[in-house]
Amino acid sequence: MRWMDAKKPIFSLSPMADFTDLPFCRLIRDLDKETILFREMVSAEAIVRGNQKTLTMCELEPIEHPVIYQLFGSNPETMAKAAKIIEKQFQPDGIDINMGCPVPKATSQYNGAFLMRDKYRAVSIVAAVKDAINIPLSVKTRLGWDDVNSSVEFVRALEKAGAEAIEIHGRTKVQGYSGIADWEAVGRAIKVLDVPAFVNGDIVDAKTAVDALDKSGAVGCLIGRGALGRPWIFNAIRNSLSGGQDYTEPDLDIKMDLMIKHAEYHIEKYGEKGVISLRKHLPWYFKGIAGFRQFRADAVQVKDLTDVKELAKRVIEFGI
Ligand SMILES: Cc1cc2nc3c(=O)[nH]c(=O)nc-3n(C[C@H](O)[C@H](O)[C@H](O)COP(=O)(O)O)c2cc1C
Repeated sequence: MRWMDAKKPIFSLSPMADFTDLPFCRLIRDLDKETILFREMVSAEAIVRGNQKTLTMCELEPIEHPVIYQLFGSNPETMAKAAKIIEKQFQPDGIDINMGCPVPKATSQYNGAFLMRDKYRAVSIVAAVKDAINIPLSVKTRLGWDDVNSSVEFVRALEKAGAEAIEIHGRTKVQGYSGIADWEAVGRAIKVLDVPAFVNGDIVDAKTAVDALDKSGAVGCLIGRGALGRPWIFNAIRNSLSGGQDYTEPDLDIKMDLMIKHAEYHIEKYGEKGVISLRKHLPWYFKGIAGFRQFRADAVQVKDLTDVKELAKRVIEFGI
């Protein structure tokens, strides 16, 4: 895959820890062949140490391509080693570096959004990883630490160091997830770049996708929370944009079928006890319908696939 060659606008699933794993990516791929799937971030140190849990997280189904793996870490050498291991062992279509995660667990360890405050370290990481791999390298970052205009110099430095694509979430680290994403500020940063750049933040349907792309001038967008419980969103946006028709969502029974399919893929990957990590996905599938609170309470107690099917049946009966 080459970022430059992808059909524009490029739609991508944004990386989300504990959510954009193999089963979820597989489900999205069933519905849409073109979306670029970003897997959840993994620790470079854990990869280099050969941590089995992290390596299992990295397993890939051929159907998932094109898929990008995201690494987090603070040491250029370790990041380069991990990227090399991933390229060789799992053969994704690209490697992405996390330079936007705002949680203290990341920033206190000099990774994630912290790297926006340490340009020298960020550039060294990009240069080292670029040197180690033959697949495309990208970086996902934010508008800045606390100033929405401070990423201009930063992203330019990343590009110079070898990043072949940049994705920008339209919030600062200090904002976390509060306020609304500033797509125009993303545009000001993107303007200085020659490599493909992506806008991210608060894109949830065709209208917000078009607005974000127009206001930022990005070649594509990353959709995160808007895809949770909505694996069909990429297909729905693409249909609306290409056919000029109104953006429509699937009926509730189709949404419930997809929830069951998600559960099947999840259990296939993680076994029966995987139901516990499935629970957090389920409420997203019926968010917004009347009776949501009760169903959400039930969703976090499902014990097996039969419970998921039963839940789906009750949601449909209630929602119709
Ligand atoms: C539960 C959750 C986990 C996330 N994990 C990651 C991650 O692993 N790597 C990353 O770069 N961003 C991560 N993000 C940020 C998202 O990729 C995205 O930038 C952010 O949610 C804004 O986009 P959205 O409004 O489309 O959700 C995460 C966000 C959420 C809500």
